[in-house]
Amino acid sequence: MSRIHTVHLTASSPDDIAAAGRLLRAGRLVAMPTETVYGLAANALDASAVVRIFEAKGRPADNPLIVHIAEPEALTALCREIPPAALALAQRFWPGPLTLVLPRRAIVPDAVTAGLSTVAVRLPALPAARAVIRAAGTPLAAPSANLSGRPSPTTADHVRADFEGLIDAILDGGPCQWGIESTVVSVAHHPPRLLRPGGVTRESLCEVIPNLVVDPAVRGEPADGETPSAPGMKYRHYAPRAPLTILRGPAVRAADYARSRPGPVAVLCFDEEWNDFAGLARVSYGSRSDPLSLARSLFDALRRLDALNARQLFARCPEGGGVEAAVRNRLRKAAGFQTRDV
Ligand code: TXA
Ligand code: MG
Repeated sequence: MSRIHTVHLTASSPDDIAAAGRLLRAGRLVAMPTETVYGLAANALDASAVVRIFEAKGRPADNPLIVHIAEPEALTALCREIPPAALALAQRFWPGPLTLVLPRRAIVPDAVTAGLSTVAVRLPALPAARAVIRAAGTPLAAPSANLSGRPSPTTADHVRADFEGLIDAILDGGPCQWGIESTVVSVAHHPPRLLRPGGVTRESLCEVIPNLVVDPAVRGEPADGETPSAPGMKYRHYAPRAPLTILRGPAVRAADYARSRPGPVAVLCFDEEWNDFAGLARVSYGSRSDPLSLARSLFDALRRLDALNARQLFARCPEGGGVEAAVRNRLRKAAGFQTRDV
C-alpha cells in the first residue's frame, strides 16, 4: 500500500474533533480513542470507506465490524428489530463497553457485516468518541486499531507503531480506561448469547438476562469446521513471535519450570510475583488483586514481551470471574490455548 501523510490530532481540542469529523465524512480513516481500546474508524454507511479499513488492517473480509453510535436513538436506523433484551441491556450498560448484535437493516453495507443478517452496535462511554461520531454525522464502523494479528492498541503510540503513514489521522485521547475490547452479546440469538467477554461482566449481564448463554468459543478454540457465532473468535488475535504458554500453579514452581527451558525465555507476571521470577526476563501487567489493572495493561505488556525477542514466552493468568474472565480469554487466545500445570 502507498504511504500517506498521517495527521496527528488531540482529543481535547474541539478543532481537532471537528477535523476528524470532516475526514470521516470524506470517506477517510481516523483512529480514535474509546474507553476500551483505540478504534480504526470509517463512515459505517460508506462501503468503500469500510473496505479501506479491511485493507489497512489486513483483516479477513469475513470478520464483521462494530458500528459505533452516539445516541441510543441511532439504533433504529441500523436495526430491523430491537428485542426487549436489547433494550434492557442498552438501558443498563450504555454508554459503555458493551456491543449488541441485532438483526440489521439493508442500509448497513455488507462490507460492515461480512454479509451476515446481523449488525454489531456499540455506544461508547468516552466523551471524545461520542464527539467524533457526532462531528462525523454518521455511525462509525471501527474495529480495534491494530494490524491484524497484533495486540489491540491502548495508546496512540500503539496505533502509530502499526499505522503511521497508512491512515489519514490519529486522534490521541491518552491511555484507554479499560484496556480490553468490549463485551459482545448477541440478542439475535434466543436466549441471548455472550460472544466475547469484556468489561461488562457475565455476572452483571446475568442480572439483566438470567438465561444468558455463553458461546462455546468464549471458553476454548472452536472445533475445526464449526462456525463460531462471532467470526472474530476463530482468529488467533495476537500471535507473539515466540510460542506463549500459560503456567498454572504456584509462582515458584512456574519460575523453576521457566528457568529449566532452553532460553532465552521471558515471563508475563503479576506485580506480586515479580521477585519469584527473579533472574528471568519479565514484564508485569499489574496487580493480581486488581483485575482492572491487569485488563488495562495486558495488551501493552504483550507488545513489550514480544520486544524482548525471547524464544519461549510464559504467562501467569488470573483464574477468577468478572473482568478476570475477560483477561483470561485474551491471554488464552494469545497463547493459542497452550496451558501447562506446574
Ligand atoms: O471495544 C471494542 O469493541 C473495540 C472498540 C474500537 O470499540 N472494537 C473492537 O472491534 O474490538 P473488533 O473488530 O476488534 O472486534 C469485533 C468483534 C469481532 O469478534 C467480530 O467477529 C464481532 O465483534 N462481530 C462484529 N459484528 C458481528 C456480528 N454481526 N455478529 C457476530 N459477531 C460480530
Ligand atoms: Mg480486534
